[in-house]
Amino acid sequence: MALPKSFSPFTIKEKLEATGLKGRNFEFMTDYSKEQLQSLFEAGEMIEPYWRSGLDLMKQKVLATLFFQPSTRTRFSTEVAMIRLGGSVLSESNPTTSSSTAKGESLSDYLRTVSNYADVIALRHPDDKEVFASLKGARVPVISGGWGNVTHPTQGLLDVYTVYRALGRFEGIKVMIASSDLSRARSGHSFALGLAAMGAELVYVGSSENAIPSAITEKLKAANAKVTVYNDLSHEAFLDSLSEVDACYLPGCSVPKDDPAARAAFLDKIKPFYITLEALEKVRRKTGKVVGIMHSLPRNDVEFDYAIDDSDFQLYFRQMAFSVPIRMALIAGMVGV
Ligand code: CP
Repeated sequence: MALPKSFSPFTIKEKLEATGLKGRNFEFMTDYSKEQLQSLFEAGEMIEPYWRSGLDLMKQKVLATLFFQPSTRTRFSTEVAMIRLGGSVLSESNPTTSSSTAKGESLSDYLRTVSNYADVIALRHPDDKEVFASLKGARVPVISGGWGNVTHPTQGLLDVYTVYRALGRFEGIKVMIASSDLSRARSGHSFALGLAAMGAELVYVGSSENAIPSAITEKLKAANAKVTVYNDLSHEAFLDSLSEVDACYLPGCSVPKDDPAARAAFLDKIKPFYITLEALEKVRRKTGKVVGIMHSLPRNDVEFDYAIDDSDFQLYFRQMAFSVPIRMALIAGMVGV
């Protein structure tokens, strides 16, 4: 048996170091190599048995969550990840009114100030340009919890990790990102960038009216992503195209419910993208494939048939559980153990 000199048991410290995350922000998944992301997934698997019971990798460390937009999943799962790592959390769920930004403090100064109290910051903000201009203020690593319309990398991370745990590989995998408004689908684009970094193939389905932002197409190009784009498909053609892929991702809608005009426009445009259980069963009969339906959630009842909830095709509620161990690995990697 010819074994390399390095042959020895894994340690979580070495695995986290191999991610290259320590001291860096988490902004786009393509900022990290395939090997670094693979190490992060393996660290996630090492941590997974403890995602409920916890392990003390971040004792005395503090996470600050600064969320300028509403959130349930991203904020709670990032916070519980730090708590399950033995650390503590400072949570600002409405900084627009309850932090000193309400008195005119700049985002840059806010990040610099909070850096005194925290070892890592998770920030959600509606304006990516303002964030990118302000990150210089931070003195600790910053996790994007969703910035503007372009990036939501920890959502992408948990989605790619779900594919990794479900299928164990990316080569030969084809995933569809389907949205009536790809100009604002930050979760879908983050998932696409992560899949591209890992070597999976992408099929984008959208409308020519609301194209993918150039910031994303440039990153996909730089990652040598294999991408097919279909625009303005009929409902029937969209459902038929599901037979081309292994999973279909719906990035959801972040239009506030108290903006009825914008919401009505969204609900109208999304009609050709409605996925039925019957269509998925038809694809299974034709190809033998169980096309997984993924969604960043929260969902709207016009997006897909809720009968999928209790079927083999449902991945959207399973994705959520994987978000905790992979965010635990991310935080531990960025802070360092
Ligand atoms: N998927 C997602 O970002 O959900 P929240 O808005 O609830 O965080």
